[in-house]
Amino acid sequence: MHDFIRQLPKVELHLHIEGTLEPELMFELAQRNRIDIPFASPREVREAYRFSNLQSFLDIYYQGANVLIHEQDFFDLTWAYLLRCRDDRVMHTEIFFDPQTHTARGIDFATVVGGIRRALDQGQAELGISSHLILCFLRHLSEAEAMATLEQALPHRDRIIGVGLDSSERGHPPEKFARVFRRARDAGFLAVAHAGEEGPARNIRGALEALGVQRIDHGVRCVEDPALVRELAQTRMPLTVCPLSNVKLKVFENMQAHNIVELLRQGLCVTINSDDPAYFGGYMTDNFLAVAEAHTVTRQELAQFTLNAIEASFVSEEHKQAMA
Ligand code: ADE
Ligand code: ZN
Repeated sequence: MHDFIRQLPKVELHLHIEGTLEPELMFELAQRNRIDIPFASPREVREAYRFSNLQSFLDIYYQGANVLIHEQDFFDLTWAYLLRCRDDRVMHTEIFFDPQTHTARGIDFATVVGGIRRALDQGQAELGISSHLILCFLRHLSEAEAMATLEQALPHRDRIIGVGLDSSERGHPPEKFARVFRRARDAGFLAVAHAGEEGPARNIRGALEALGVQRIDHGVRCVEDPALVRELAQTRMPLTVCPLSNVKLKVFENMQAHNIVELLRQGLCVTINSDDPAYFGGYMTDNFLAVAEAHTVTRQELAQFTLNAIEASFVSEEHKQAMA
């Protein structure tokens, strides 16, 4: 089964590029940019990665991003991730970035997008990995700040396929960003949102109804609303599930308790993704292996996760057929 999983072609749809910052690169960039970080070694950084919930992770994740200053830093970060994709047989990836984490520190929006996109373009040319970029609004910040960020994104419309919503889910329901998403969709962006990760099932409905999203990121708390589960199955609304993340952030007590296989068998379009792999202990292959070790799954079911991800991806029908 291990070999099957390693060889299985994969598609990633839920990956925060800032969440791929490995402690070694964090140290290298801190030195290069003369930024103080409160750790003595990469090992000490790893030891700090014990989280009790989403917020305890976010605090450390935003702090880590402080070492990213120059276009080259965003390139190096993204290129390191793409090399992992190559090793894990990821043939297509749709990655999130959090511009507000950087513009709040005085980094230009264009610096961030420029570095990430240059790596993605090189990934297509040299590694044959196709990709899309999705801008996430930080939901703990205001609607006005999200709207201002959307304005900054408009000149880069051809380099960013969609918008998403991440950060602290509790206390920040999707409805807070209904007008921002309306404007983004009017401008031609596709839409996704984190919902039903730490927040209740009603946030999934909120994301569908108020934000007009085409995928739900996480969505595992849909099981609290059986009618919603039926609707998600009937409409084949994709859920980009992140198994190792959910266990690390205590959404589930352990991998055996995770509901991803149950949701797959109920006919939902669930996919496996790595979320913030540098912080949660693994990339795509590691996530597949963790699910297969904790659950009895067939090869066909494992392959179905990839088929679901192809179906849920934002590529053309032609490209989908080529990947399937
Ligand atoms: N930002 C990065 N990872 C996230 C997650 N799992 N949930 C919400 N916001 C995030
Ligand atoms: Zn996420």
